[in-house]
Amino acid sequence: MTRVDLKTRLSLFIGLLLGVVLLLAVYAVLGNSKRAVQGEIDAVMRLAGNLLDDKAIPAETTDQTVLPVLISVFDHTRHLCVERSGANAAASARLCPAAIDDRVPDWFIAHVTTAPRALRVELPTVDGHRQPVVIHSDPADEILEAWDEARPLLLLIVAIGFLTNAIVVFSVWRALKPIDLIRDALGRIGRGDLHPGLPKATTPELRTIIDGVVELGLSLEQARSDNQRLLRHSLEVQERERRSIARELHDEIGQSLAAMDAEAALLHQRVGATAPELSARTQGIRSGIATLYDGLHLLLARLRPAGLDEFGLGPTLESLVADWSGRCPQIRFEVRIDVERVAGEALVQVYLYRIAQEALVNIARHARARRVSVMLCRDVDGALHLRISDDGCGLPADLRFSGDTEARRRAKPDGDRVGLGLLGMIERAETLGATLRIDSLPGEGTTISVRLPQQLLL
Ligand SMILES: Nc1ncnc2c1ncn2[C@@H]1O[C@H](COP(=O)(O)OP(=O)(O)OP(=O)(O)O)[C@@H](O)[C@H]1O
Ligand SMILES: [Mg+2]
Repeated sequence: MTRVDLKTRLSLFIGLLLGVVLLLAVYAVLGNSKRAVQGEIDAVMRLAGNLLDDKAIPAETTDQTVLPVLISVFDHTRHLCVERSGANAAASARLCPAAIDDRVPDWFIAHVTTAPRALRVELPTVDGHRQPVVIHSDPADEILEAWDEARPLLLLIVAIGFLTNAIVVFSVWRALKPIDLIRDALGRIGRGDLHPGLPKATTPELRTIIDGVVELGLSLEQARSDNQRLLRHSLEVQERERRSIARELHDEIGQSLAAMDAEAALLHQRVGATAPELSARTQGIRSGIATLYDGLHLLLARLRPAGLDEFGLGPTLESLVADWSGRCPQIRFEVRIDVERVAGEALVQVYLYRIAQEALVNIARHARARRVSVMLCRDVDGALHLRISDDGCGLPADLRFSGDTEARRRAKPDGDRVGLGLLGMIERAETLGATLRIDSLPGEGTTISVRLPQQLLL
């Protein structure tokens, strides 16, 4: 069902109401005209009846002057005419009853006209015969008069109706315009703009609604900032935890593995050539320890990006890409790193590194890409750009989005479906105050770009 907005509905309703009032007024004017015509015709027909009744002209009269006198009298009386017959009809050009003037519209005639009325009488003629005479009601000139009187009134009613309608509709649109603006503002709040421009309140009711929208924006802003603080805190805790686990693993397991390797090496040396089987087994233990050690190193590198503190984000990213390039020889990696160390909080480097790390893991797991490019550079206004793009299959259709706000809107409410990787990237960027865009087209790959304004890097 199509939803008609309040303004249109109100305008239609008011228009309809005014239309009904107009119709009633027109109907009253027409009724008045009809009564006027009817009254005139009744009066004149009564007069003709009185003149022709038995007392005025006895039925058996032989006075031959009566006929011409009567014809002359009725022909000169308004709204009456005498029907001619025989030679009289040919001699007279006058129609009886007369045709109604063309200026009067048919609908008006149809409404005000009365049923034709006639009186019949037989009167003596000069040649001694009696001739039947019919006297008709003739409302043509009365209808023209009624039309001349009614027309200005009808025009006035229509003009007043249209004017009133126009004024009322204009006022309704003006009064309800702020509602459209408030609706747009709510839409913008929904898309993340918590300070949308709001219209001036023109009525107390609107003031209450506008105050409510402002309150809503403020409390959402407060909730968003609380949320970001919490998120930031939990990410910091996570990072600290990872570092501490990495340290423990390195110090405890690493030390133990080193000790076990030293023991195994000593055993191997002692038994030497005397017990070749035992010696081979100690070698086996040592290579097992070496494999465990490699695994531990990989784990440590993921838990605590090696070199980030010492060498900065640029070189660490280069070494991350080099690792992936070794693991995925079928992919051609291109790296453009123009920035070595990123100033600002230590977390900035760690989070940007984590975003790139997750993007590369995703490419290796999902993208089926042949080319990957990683870029870290600054633009003219000092903002830092990190971009990871691939030419793979692109995101699944239900995850495809473009732009930062859109990403936030679609990714967050359905976090489970999106996967923790993309969500983590979005949250890290948000925590830093950076903008993250995820652009993806089917079969044309995925690009993840993060832009960090210069003021966050001071
Ligand atoms: N570069 C990419 N190319 C194609 N599809 C991708 C790419 N990156 C992500 N995806 C798709 O987006 C989905 C969500 O990714 P996300 O990283 O959020 O979750 P995940 O990798 O499936 O799981 P995890 O929580 O372990 O990261 C993936 O399942 C995959 O279908
Ligand atoms: Mg992932």
